[in-house]
Amino acid sequence: MTAPPRIVVVGSVNLDLVASGAPLPKAGETVTGAVFSRHPGGKGANQALAARRLGVEVALVARVGRDALAEEALALLRAGGVDLAGIAVDATAATGVALICVDPHGENQITVAPGANATFAPELLVLPPADAVVCQLEVRPPTVARAAALTGGFFCVNLAPAAPVDASLLARADLIVVNETEAAFYGEALRTVPGLVALTLGGQGAKLLRGGAEIAQATAPPVDVVDTTGAGDTFVAALVVGLLEGMTPEAALRFACAAGACAVTKAGAQSSLPSRAEVEALLAR
Ligand code: RIB
Repeated sequence: MTAPPRIVVVGSVNLDLVASGAPLPKAGETVTGAVFSRHPGGKGANQALAARRLGVEVALVARVGRDALAEEALALLRAGGVDLAGIAVDATAATGVALICVDPHGENQITVAPGANATFAPELLVLPPADAVVCQLEVRPPTVARAAALTGGFFCVNLAPAAPVDASLLARADLIVVNETEAAFYGEALRTVPGLVALTLGGQGAKLLRGGAEIAQATAPPVDVVDTTGAGDTFVAALVVGLLEGMTPEAALRFACAAGACAVTKAGAQSSLPSRAEVEALLAR
């Protein structure tokens, strides 16, 4: 029996403070009637735990503050068996916080106060051995570029939230994942990269492209949407797991769409991440 792949995620840890059930406010507007909850989150932490729940070995390399929010933000990762030896504590910054509003249809708005995620400088990065490295842009792009340079294995970058990056980072990536907003931000640059580009289309599913040409597409299984927070992170993790496990691009994309669909059926980011059995049950439905 071969050992499961090992993934290292270099990224963010946040505590998500969530107000659910009221309409999303417009600029300058106050809305009321929401219900408050708090959940561990952060795109890096979510992707790490999502991959772990799908059955692979995962280590998270990230930065938190020396405060009470940190333990709460790391609790589900710890309970889920994510290797946290690479978590550094910054005594001068707060743990990252995301302020999230979720409307009655499950759509969200997120403002992040990155705190210690923003002090994760490239020279602080120590990368443990891995079959794949997965990054997002909630830590500094130069830190992501350093992660790309340090790994000889599979490298995936989820360009979320969209921010300027060097063309060399895009050229190094074996897999880039973007949603439609992010794809519009990077524009033509994504058409000429040598690696795979996965474009997520929300409830419509996703496409996989190489050199600007579509090589696979998958629809998302229909589900009742409760909260879309963390669905994109689940998609990223599942696509990487599927490709590392040797699934065909089509099968990996279907697996990732099903995983993302599972994640929207529950509230919260990490609290909604599906197990492998849940994803396979949805795929078989
Ligand atoms: O992708 C969802 C995540 O984005 C949330 O958990 C929040 O922390 C923000 O980083």
